[in-house]
Amino acid sequence: MARILGGIGASHTPTIGFAYDHNKQQDPAWAPIFAGFEPVRQWLKQQRPDALLYIFNDHVTSFFFDHYSTFALGIDECYAVADEGGQPRDLPAMPGHPALARHIGASLMTDEFDMAFFQGKPLDHGFFSPMSVLLEREQQRWPTTIVPLQVGVLQFPVPSAARCFKLGQALRRAIESYPQDIRVAIVATGGLSHQVHGERAGFNNPQWDEKFLDLISEDPIALTAMTQAQYAERGGMEGSEVIMWLIMRGALSANVRRVHSSYYLPSMTGIATLLLENEAAEMPELTRREHLQRMAQQLSGVEKLPGTYPFTLGTSLQTYRINKFLHDLVIPAHRQRFLNNPEGAFEQAGLTEPERDLLRRRDWRGLIHYGAIFFGLEKLGAVVGVSNLHIYAAMRGQPLDEFLKTRNTAVKYSVAGRDATATKETGR
Ligand code: FE2
Repeated sequence: MARILGGIGASHTPTIGFAYDHNKQQDPAWAPIFAGFEPVRQWLKQQRPDALLYIFNDHVTSFFFDHYSTFALGIDECYAVADEGGQPRDLPAMPGHPALARHIGASLMTDEFDMAFFQGKPLDHGFFSPMSVLLEREQQRWPTTIVPLQVGVLQFPVPSAARCFKLGQALRRAIESYPQDIRVAIVATGGLSHQVHGERAGFNNPQWDEKFLDLISEDPIALTAMTQAQYAERGGMEGSEVIMWLIMRGALSANVRRVHSSYYLPSMTGIATLLLENEAAEMPELTRREHLQRMAQQLSGVEKLPGTYPFTLGTSLQTYRINKFLHDLVIPAHRQRFLNNPEGAFEQAGLTEPERDLLRRRDWRGLIHYGAIFFGLEKLGAVVGVSNLHIYAAMRGQPLDEFLKTRNTAVKYSVAGRDATATKETGR
């Protein structure tokens, strides 16, 4: 089963990526950054983890306030570098570990952490800034995979320090119950002390930062009792993102070996690194089996229901492109492009030939079997003038008239709104 090797804490200020991109390794003002990261880099090189569970916050790049999530787990196969206003940094995309991510997601939900899940999103400096100095790439290829965990710490209310620690404890159960023999390191990022807004901009507190490094290593419970205001008072408002380190710490054993730590304050943010080796006993086999059973409980039995296909994280990942194509039909320009030139729209969306074929033939049942979600199908129905009832009948393999006879009233409807031309394509 999977094993947690240790936990890494690191700042994720863009300074680190900037110093790397501008070859500042020998520059006296910047060299301490690289010196602080070096032992962690060496440790990762030596340990060769199969995956990093990477905890960070996005900086209003890929996650905006139109739908801001608290704990969002990445389930993707690959993560590109985000453009934060001046073109993306010149780094290769980072491979994900979708199977591990799915397991962790299911395990955390079982433990009553109501996660959000994301894919198709690039990662900003919160991820790539420290990664560019921590991992050595061979021929532009990253040496490991990641499962990113994005924590919404920018818009209050945000999770408490205590909640973050508990999430870490659940994360440990999630990783240690993963059936494959893989080696995982937990990386938490953010901070240390800084404030970048308002008249208090430029606030730092190196004494508190040192204390924080001691407490997170030796007495993390003390940190869980602190409020956001107390973190802000000691380490600056933006510095309170260090609560993310408690997720990492919660996933480790009570006793850890502090192998390395460093601290340097060049400009606005206290740049720290911390490396804790895990001293956990293996999860007992019975505990693991019981946990896996609990994880399977909610959907257990659904496989016996004929014609029923739960839409899972696995389905969602596999069929993301076609579902995105269907979802984008809510955009007037996209649906017009599709109506004017379907083949061009398929091409632009990068759909495979089997996907195009399903859409061309309006194979409603085939689309469901393939993994398209019904609520995408009803949008397509609305655009091409096919009623929902027609889609239901087609999925059942029945003529529409026959299916309508099974309803209390023979009404037809769709989600087409003001553009409703419900019978355009079916002629009924
Ligand atoms: Fe941050």
